[in-house]
Amino acid sequence: MLRRRNVAVLLVSITCLGVLFFRSLPAAAPIDKYPPPRLHAVKPVVENTLVPPKPANGKTPDGWRPFKPPDSYLLKPFVVEPSLTQRLPCLDSWVSQGKPCVATERGTVDAVWTWVNGSEPILAATRNAVVAEATAKLQGPRRPPFRGARSTHFREHGEMINSMRSVWKSMPSTLVNKYILLTADVSADDTEELRLGSVPIWMNTSQESRLQVLHHSEVFRVPETSLPEADNRANKGREWRDRYVPSFNSLAIESQLPNIPQLAPTVFYLNDDCFILKPVSEADFETPLYGPVFRIQFNLGVKGKSPGSSMMGVDKEGEWPGLQYTNWLLDERFGKRERRYLHHIAKVLPVPIMREAAAIWKEEVSQTAESRFRGHGPQVNMVFLTTWYTIEKHRESLLYSFIMLRADANADGVFSPAERRTLINGLESGKVSFSLREGGSPHWIDVNLQRAGLDSPKETEYDWLSSDGYPLIATLKKNTPDAHCTIDVAVCFPAGNATSLDVFRRVAFEKGECGDCLISHLINRSGPTGLAAFLPPSGAPSVPSDEIPTLPLERRWKDVVFRSGMGRNYAVNMIHRYNYVIGTSPMQFLELRQVKDVRRLPNVTNPVAFLAVNDDLRSPLGVAQLDLDMKTWYAQRWGGVRAWWEKEGAKKD
Ligand SMILES: *[C@@H]1O[C@H](CO)[C@@H](O)[C@H](O)[C@H]1NC(C)=O
Ligand SMILES: *[C@@H]1O[C@H](CO)[C@@H](O)[C@H](O)[C@H]1NC(C)=O
Ligand SMILES: *[C@@H]1O[C@H](CO)[C@@H](O)[C@H](O)[C@H]1NC(C)=O
Ligand SMILES: *[C@@H]1O[C@H](CO)[C@@H](O)[C@H](O)[C@H]1NC(C)=O
Ligand SMILES: *[C@@H]1O[C@H](CO)[C@@H](O)[C@H](O)[C@H]1NC(C)=O
Repeated sequence: MLRRRNVAVLLVSITCLGVLFFRSLPAAAPIDKYPPPRLHAVKPVVENTLVPPKPANGKTPDGWRPFKPPDSYLLKPFVVEPSLTQRLPCLDSWVSQGKPCVATERGTVDAVWTWVNGSEPILAATRNAVVAEATAKLQGPRRPPFRGARSTHFREHGEMINSMRSVWKSMPSTLVNKYILLTADVSADDTEELRLGSVPIWMNTSQESRLQVLHHSEVFRVPETSLPEADNRANKGREWRDRYVPSFNSLAIESQLPNIPQLAPTVFYLNDDCFILKPVSEADFETPLYGPVFRIQFNLGVKGKSPGSSMMGVDKEGEWPGLQYTNWLLDERFGKRERRYLHHIAKVLPVPIMREAAAIWKEEVSQTAESRFRGHGPQVNMVFLTTWYTIEKHRESLLYSFIMLRADANADGVFSPAERRTLINGLESGKVSFSLREGGSPHWIDVNLQRAGLDSPKETEYDWLSSDGYPLIATLKKNTPDAHCTIDVAVCFPAGNATSLDVFRRVAFEKGECGDCLISHLINRSGPTGLAAFLPPSGAPSVPSDEIPTLPLERRWKDVVFRSGMGRNYAVNMIHRYNYVIGTSPMQFLELRQVKDVRRLPNVTNPVAFLAVNDDLRSPLGVAQLDLDMKTWYAQRWGGVRAWWEKEGAKKD
C-alpha cells in the first residue's frame, strides 16, 4: 500500500559518510606515504597495441566498428525545449486547481548507458598512456597522489548484457523509445576520415532506430569560447577532441549526456552495474502530471565547496569532490544549502532541464569534459546538477510568480502600501502551520493519474510532490502535531525593500528560509489542491508573447534579471516546467568488498526493484571466485533472456 512519509527530517549521519565515502582513504597519511601511481591498473599491455588498428587496410578488429567522426566539435547554441510536463493540454487547471485532463502526449524514456570494455587491450593501452602523461605532469616534492581511475571501476563480469536484459524485461516496451549505449572511440588512421568505436562483441547493431551505439566523439563538444587561443578554430575543435577523447572519467562522460542528439523527454541513466528487477510502469520514471521521479537520500547532506577549498579528508578520486563543487555552483545560483545525495541507483533525468543547466554552466561542463580522471580539478556532476536544478527552479518559479507577478498587481516593479499589505497578509503572527494536503495523498495521486489515462507507479511511492513545497524546508518538524515554520516580517520583508525585485531576491535567495516558509503558507492558502495562491489573475498585466525573454542563463542569482509583468500563462508554464516528485522504491546499493558479499544480492524472497552493484573487491585473491559467483547470479536472473539486440550464437561472457 502506498504511504506518505516525511522526507525532510534531516540529520547527516557522520557514520554513514565515513563508511560509504571516505572508506578507502588513508586518512591522515603524510603525502609521501601514498602508494605510487599504478600505471597498469587494468592489465600490463604490450607497447604496440597503442598503434591504432587500421580497418581500411584489412579487417576491423572484433569489438570495434568504423564510423565517420562529426565535422565540428563546437557546442551548438542552446535552444529552449518544452519539458514533458509543459505539454499537458490543461496546464492552467492542473497547476492552479489540481484538475487533470487526459495527457494527449505520452512520455517516453530513453535508457542510456555509459560503458567501457575494461579488458579491451587498445583501450587499456590508451588509458595507460593517459595515466602516464598525467603522472608526468604532477612532478615535485608535494606531488599529490595519483593512482589513475581505480582498476575496479573497469572490472567486468558480464554486467552490460545483463543490465540491458533487465531493462528490456522490466520496462514496458511502449515506454522505451531507444536503448542508447555511449562508448569510447579511438582514431583509426591518419587521414581522420574514420574512427573506431567500441561495441560489445555480443551486440547486433542493425536495428538503429531502437538501439543506438554512440561514441564519445559523437557527443563531446566544446564551447568555442573555451578553446585555447592557440587552438586553430578552423578545425572546429578537432584538436580539443584529440586531447580529451576517449575519456576514462565517468563524470566527464556524463557531463556530455546533454549533447546526445534527439533524446526522448526523459532519460533513464544507468551504469552497466545498474539493474531493474521487477516490472515497472511509466509513473516509476515520470508523468506529464507530476514530472520526473527523483530518488534522494535525505539523511546524507552535500555541502558546497568552492574550487580550491581544502580537500582534506576527502577521497579525491571518489564522487564527493564533484558533488561538493556542483553544490557550490547551485549555491551561487540559488543560495547556500546543504542539498542531499541521490540514491546510488539508476537515475531519471528530465532532458530539457538537463540541457538548460548544461547551457548555464557550459564552461564548467566543458572543463569537466577535459578532466580525464576524477579528482583532478573541479568537476561537475551532471546528474546531481540536473536533479537539484529542477528542484530549485521549481521553488524559484513559485516565489517569482507570487512576489513579482501576483503581489505587484499593477506590474510597475514597486510595492505600493496596498500591494505590500497583500504581500504580507496572513503572516503577521509569524507562525505558518504546516500540513500535507489532501491533494497529495496516494488516493488522489492514483485518481488523477487514472483521469489522465496513466497507470499508477508499480514500485514507487510518491513521498513528496513539488506542490507540497520545498523539500529542504528546515525549520519544520513535519511529524509533530504542531508542525510549523516561522516568518519574521521585519527580517523577510524589511520596509526598505520597495521594489518587487529586491523583495523577491531577499526572500528567495538571501534569506532562503523566508522563501521556504512563504511557500508553505501559500500552499495552505491554495486549498486542498493546486497552487492558485501563487498565481496572478488571468487578467494580470502581461507582456506580448513575442517579448517573452528566453530563460535566464546567468550563473549567479545576483546577475539574473527577473522581469515584472510576465502574466499568468508564463507563471503557470514556468512552475510546471520544473515539476517533480520525490519517490522511494524498493532499492539496494551493494558494494562487493569481499567475495562473501555476493550473498547479499537480492534473491526471490527479498526482491528490490532497483539495484546497483559495485565490484569493490580489495584483494586480487577473490577475483576469480567473485567472477564465477556474479555470473551464476546473472544466469539465475536473466540466463533465459535473449534480447533482440543479442547476436545469434555469440559468446556472451
Ligand atoms: C572486451 O574486450 C575483450 C578483448 O578484446 C574481448 O575479449 C571481450 O569480449 C570484450 N567484451 C565485450 C563485452 O565486448
Ligand atoms: C533589500 O533587498 C536587498 C536584496 O535585493 C538587500 O540586499 C537589501 O539589504 C535590502 N534593503 C533593505 C533596506 O532592507
Ligand atoms: C491550512 O492550515 C490550517 C491551520 O493549520 C489547517 O486547519 C488547514 O487544514 C490547512 N489547509 C490546507 C488546505 O491544508
Ligand atoms: C534471501 O536474502 C535474504 C536477505 O539478504 C536472506 O536473509 C535470506 O536468507 C535469503 N534467502 C535465500 C533463500 O537465500
Ligand atoms: C542482426 O539482426 C538482423 C535483424 O535485425 C539479422 O538479420 C541478422 O542476422 C543479425 N545478425 C547476427 C549476427 O545475429
